[in-house]
Amino acid sequence: MPHQVELVPSAVTFEVEEEESILDAALRNGISLPYGCRGGHCGACVSRLVEGSVSYPGARPEALADSRPGSHECAPCLARPEGPVRLAAEPLDTVADIPVRTLPARVEHMERLAPDVMALYLKLPEAERLKFLAGQYIEVLMGNGEARAFSLANAPDRDATLELHVRHVAGGDFSERVFSTMKEKTVLRLKGPKGSFVPRENDRSMVFMAGGTGFAPIKALVEYFLSKQEQRDMWIYWGARARADLYMEELPLNWSAGHANVHYVPVLSGPGIDADWDGRTGFVHEAIAADFPDMSGLDVYAGGPPVMVHAGREAFIERGLPVEHFYSDAFEYAHQAHKP
Ligand SMILES: Cc1cc2nc3c(=O)[nH]c(=O)nc-3n(C[C@H](O)[C@H](O)[C@H](O)COP(=O)(O)OP(=O)(O)OC[C@H]3O[C@@H](n4cnc5c(N)ncnc54)[C@H](O)[C@@H]3O)c2cc1C
Ligand code: FES
Repeated sequence: MPHQVELVPSAVTFEVEEEESILDAALRNGISLPYGCRGGHCGACVSRLVEGSVSYPGARPEALADSRPGSHECAPCLARPEGPVRLAAEPLDTVADIPVRTLPARVEHMERLAPDVMALYLKLPEAERLKFLAGQYIEVLMGNGEARAFSLANAPDRDATLELHVRHVAGGDFSERVFSTMKEKTVLRLKGPKGSFVPRENDRSMVFMAGGTGFAPIKALVEYFLSKQEQRDMWIYWGARARADLYMEELPLNWSAGHANVHYVPVLSGPGIDADWDGRTGFVHEAIAADFPDMSGLDVYAGGPPVMVHAGREAFIERGLPVEHFYSDAFEYAHQAHKP
């Protein structure tokens, strides 16, 4: 028997069929909810159940492993309603309107940004443009049925260039190729845009948490907000091991120097913290939690390693952040496959 789901506060409703997940039913009805892996890993879809109950076809999703008992969090990508359900989740009309395309792109320029980070600047064919929102990602198709996801590091603009920041994973099929044999003029096949890590327009101050190359989507989001002269406070926290890993650091330094509402806090976790470093140390999510004891009025955007994203979600919710205001892009490995 189908069950009704109501999204709050929008009051959008839709029916979920037997054996269907809440997310699949929403997408079938043309309603875009936030999601990433669609397999219960990444936590991008995690929302608060305001009323009703859900069950899962297998084990409790990994993304809920850290959620506190009684927090009423659920993972709509796997959740099946057991009756009528009310869910605190915001439909993303902006994402629903954008077609996913497969396109060739030429590597126009490669730039070593840090010992283990390479920027790829990709050019689309003449007269082609990829419509996307700041913070979304594309997949690089590997030719063997596999794909690797990379965040678009630039905000959409008139230029047809796409910027990716690729971290070297030793022995990794794609990133090893980038750091060893790939040359400028190589042609890649891309599929996208994808993802719901996109700007939310409201009146809440924003905290951005980047870990490593998680700076890529954060850069795109901040560039987008700056391009529209956003007046809200924007706190950018960037976690890395050592100072050399804070590639392109002139950007957040310039943003904060040029805008009274933009604040930049680098946080180094080591090993290898520079002897002359007098900035913050420790885990980046802990620095944020220490600076914001009450997070109930914030929007948090978190991009980077899954372990950082999950730890941040847990710590911030403990400080009053409503889960529906935690937006994340966890860089899961490809084996935690993303569905199309
Ligand atoms: C939504 C999304 C956005 C992403 N955006 C970016 C981005 O902007 N920049 C970026 O650099 N990456 C990003 N990633 C990660 C990227 O998609 C790949 O997983 C990563 O580049 C490794 O691919 P590979 O082919 O080199 O390694 P693979 O061939 O997939 O991996 C080989 C082995 O290396 C290990 N491994 C894989 N990835 C990692 C890792 N990250 N850390 C440690 N060990 C690992 C695993 O054990 C794996 O078996 C993103 C992932 C997702 C899901
Ligand atoms: S946990 Fe639901 S989309 Fe990743």
